[in-house]
Amino acid sequence: MANVVVWAELPGRLREILHPHIVVPPSELAEAAGLLSLLSVRVDEAFLDRAPKLRVIGNFAVGYDNIDVAACTRRGIVVCNTPGVLTSATAELTMALILGTARRLPEGLNLARSGQWTGWQPDQLLGLELDGARLGIVGLGRIGHAVAQRARAFGMHVAYSGRIQDVPYLHRGLDALLTESDIVSIHAPSTPATHHLIGTRELSLMRPGAILINTARGPILDENAVAEALLDDHLGGVGLDVFESEPQIHPALRAHPRALILPHLGSATSRTRTAMAETAAQGIAAVLAGRPPAHPVHGA
Ligand code: GLV
Repeated sequence: MANVVVWAELPGRLREILHPHIVVPPSELAEAAGLLSLLSVRVDEAFLDRAPKLRVIGNFAVGYDNIDVAACTRRGIVVCNTPGVLTSATAELTMALILGTARRLPEGLNLARSGQWTGWQPDQLLGLELDGARLGIVGLGRIGHAVAQRARAFGMHVAYSGRIQDVPYLHRGLDALLTESDIVSIHAPSTPATHHLIGTRELSLMRPGAILINTARGPILDENAVAEALLDDHLGGVGLDVFESEPQIHPALRAHPRALILPHLGSATSRTRTAMAETAAQGIAAVLAGRPPAHPVHGA
């Protein structure tokens, strides 16, 4: 019987899944063998020094850039994540950002709320129709695939960059993808290799008026460069759910009428959050029982 720190109040049958282990609060980290962590908890060497008995971490997220996995591995700590269960929720939120930016919802909402709307006009807030538009997906993993399927249902032409896969979508190098797409959506993991993958040069390749969407991780975009491309009117809009230094949001992005920004809501449905909590707990329970976990992750 071991202690498991569960970092926050979470939904689902956690106590049942973790039985016979005891759920304890973060203040009892020093004695814990298991940790159910959040993406907002930075698990680095200093954190691990405060958790000398830790054997397993279940991260309540599919992304695990908040965890120094190599440091965990050196200490014999297994790290697990929650892939799969949040794919639909995140793809749906991505579609919300695609639709919202393409049809200029932030500007329409501002106008409707402002009391300045003078009535219907033939040329008011004309947007981009998804039917026939080109979507470029950077990183065709589970979520990228789910977005591609949904985008096709809207009549979009889908292309992707990254590893070539057996899919009915056009494969392009990143530069060509950026040059050819009306909307670019990021679905890559945040790693040293993808840090600032999209910066000033890459943004300059995008078509004038193109839209950039990110529901993956903030550091993949150079946020200053994105803000500049929007302020210069090179980008037609941005739809961002994630940011470089959450919870801070670049002031120019926060204020811009063509930025549809959300506070990291990709997986925020009750069903998905429950499934994420239970998946993370199952990983912890497996390792504490001496079984291989379903979703271990490995350092870069
Ligand atoms: C959410 O951002 C996740 O990685 O699960």
